[in-house]
Amino acid sequence: MTSTAPRYSRITGTGSYLPPNRLTNAALAEQLARDGVETSDQWIVERTGIKARHFAAPDVVCSDLALAAARRALEAADVDAANIDLIIVATSTPDMVFPSTACLLQQKLGVHGCAAFDVQAVCSGFVYALTVADSMIRTGAASKALVVGSEVFSRILDFKDRTTCVLFGDGAGAVVLEASDTPGILSSELHADGRHVDILCVPGTVSGGQILGDPLLKMDGPAVFKLAVGVLEDVARSVLDKAGRTTEDVDWLIPHQANIRIMQGTAKRMKLPMDKLIVTVDEHGNTSAASVPLALDESVRSGKVKRGDTVLLEGVGGGFTWGAVLLDL
Ligand code: ACO
Repeated sequence: MTSTAPRYSRITGTGSYLPPNRLTNAALAEQLARDGVETSDQWIVERTGIKARHFAAPDVVCSDLALAAARRALEAADVDAANIDLIIVATSTPDMVFPSTACLLQQKLGVHGCAAFDVQAVCSGFVYALTVADSMIRTGAASKALVVGSEVFSRILDFKDRTTCVLFGDGAGAVVLEASDTPGILSSELHADGRHVDILCVPGTVSGGQILGDPLLKMDGPAVFKLAVGVLEDVARSVLDKAGRTTEDVDWLIPHQANIRIMQGTAKRMKLPMDKLIVTVDEHGNTSAASVPLALDESVRSGKVKRGDTVLLEGVGGGFTWGAVLLDL
């Protein structure tokens, strides 16, 4: 019997993209006021930490943002798109009902033949996609994966509902994940609890050429908030235990960027100093599946997060879904 060395996966490049239209809270409030919807910069900053978000132009679709982020990640990893053998796009705002945004991205990258599919786990989507890609690399089903989180949440916002429309933005983030002899990804864990479908959903569907139900986002914010803080602490501790690490080993916490109060709450419960918390929600808003890879790429490019650092990624969102990935960069 021959023994084979264990196979791991490692992030070798990151990339991200934000559409150029940056809308401050004040500008959004002014826009909403025209339709009689009242909000303010002060309310949004105090309750969420969000100061601005980016919105894609009407003719820009999810795969366009994904393409820009993917190209940057491929360049950073020094990998030719033709050598990618797996593409996973995490999104809840795909270009079409089908084919998947991953297939559309593959076509836009000008490569053909490799496996390509979408993962739908709302704001936990990137953590889900990264875990799936890691598993496929470990088993030998893939060697070089492109894992993308891309969203145009502006398309599903109800601009008459001030409790949700001020929270979200558009953007994309991507990583190249490659097979490696040494572990990059140390441990991961995914969860879902379908009992909570109603607290965060877009309850519409296409049928017989019509939209049935409501195609705009609905959220019970306080219910989501309460659930998120608890599960994020539990799953963080669990991935640390699995990897035989402790909170002291964590150089950076990159949680889903939904609300600064949830993020600070998680860091506090974990007894992690606030300067280990990566925050981009102030400038991006909640970009759902794109938020974690966007925050990762920005912190890598700014020089904050360095090769060799131990990073804890966390996602939480509609479903209800949540999960975490612990990795050495
Ligand atoms: N501007 C001004 N006032 C507002 C706004 C607004 N944009 N939105 C709500 N208010 C008002 C409400 O009407 C309410 O007024 P009232 O007291 O007179 O009734 C008051 O502000 C407080 O409203 P709450 O909903 O209780 O405010 P809260 O402090 O809970 O903050 C928020 C709301 C920001 C949505 C918070 O609950 C939250 O962040 N929840 C979590 C959201 C989240 O994390 N989502 C992540 C997953 S997203 C995904 O998976 C797609």
